[in-house]
Amino acid sequence: MEVVLEQPIKKKIIFSGIQPTGVPTLGNYIGALRNWNSLQDEFNCVYSIVNMHAITVRQNAADLRRQTLEAYALILACGIDPQKSTAFIQSHVRAHAELAWALSCFTQFGELSRMTQFKDKSAKNADNINAGLFTYPVLMAADILLYQTDLVPIGADQKQHLELARDVATRFNGVYGNVFKIPEGYIPTTGARVMSLADPTKKMSKSDENANGFISILDKPETIVKKFKRAVTDSDAEIRYAEGKDGINNLMSIYSVMTGADYAAIEREFEGKGYGYFKEQVGNCVAEHLSPIREKHALLLNDKAYLEKCYTEGAQKAEHFAERTLQKVYKKLGFL
Ligand code: TYM
Repeated sequence: MEVVLEQPIKKKIIFSGIQPTGVPTLGNYIGALRNWNSLQDEFNCVYSIVNMHAITVRQNAADLRRQTLEAYALILACGIDPQKSTAFIQSHVRAHAELAWALSCFTQFGELSRMTQFKDKSAKNADNINAGLFTYPVLMAADILLYQTDLVPIGADQKQHLELARDVATRFNGVYGNVFKIPEGYIPTTGARVMSLADPTKKMSKSDENANGFISILDKPETIVKKFKRAVTDSDAEIRYAEGKDGINNLMSIYSVMTGADYAAIEREFEGKGYGYFKEQVGNCVAEHLSPIREKHALLLNDKAYLEKCYTEGAQKAEHFAERTLQKVYKKLGFL
């Protein structure tokens, strides 16, 4: 009898990263981390704590070290399974810095000057507009392109950087043939840009000076509910998704992601109810959703040996793949 071996279907590759600066917010979770988790079964996922990106802004060494471990524990607490996916710390895989250098020679000054995040960050850090801040998107391109990535799960704020990565990869391929896969973004339709609770015209960010503006993934349930109760809305009293109702739109999109209900269903659910009641319900469901993550995070941080084992193995897996791409690039460039 003839034995037909089943061909394994090659899974598509996912890459994404998060900076270890401060505790990630509900924005990071909704825009990216929750998708990192849900993509693990269908795809070959590679996730990184990008500590090399973090030093574009001055960091305290002890804090960065601690926050890197905390961020690593947090992605595991959010459901990243280090057996199923590759979860590692960026500085452990040297190919990132090496490819970034090569790619920087294929990136134009003008392209980098147009990056809105560079403009924002240099305005905020006027006394330290360093070259790393400027070339940050090249390192991000290297992160993505090293793994021959198909899809990059990110929030809307990273879209411009991803487009640059695509442009640089296309340019390189144009000269040397098919070296890099051209990656696509995976940006959620709801929650790609979670806004500040204190000023819903601004993105929710962990660096917000007003702590009421952001929910940290590790905030206690009572803090979460309190911050939602204080969320800025509007003077109209209708829970309806509409232009100009930034605060309510933001709360509705958060509630939609947390419960799976669409906007029409949310409008029906809260018809005739006041803003106070709605805000409390959104707070309750976010608190309930994040509680198990906070608990798991605390447990993981108690087991440093396990975390070390996971990130060491993660780096070995990542390095194996990254090195293949880097060697291909070096060969094309003519490095002896
Ligand atoms: P970072 O660390 O600022 O954010 C991590 C992820 O969270 C998303 N995000 C949001 N999504 C929705 N609403 C918000 N308010 C919000 N704030 C943040 C971000 O879009 C991101 O997906 N440069 C990246 C890190 C990085 C990276 C990469 C990402 C480095 N190399 C390669 C993807 C691929 C950054 O600073 O993300």
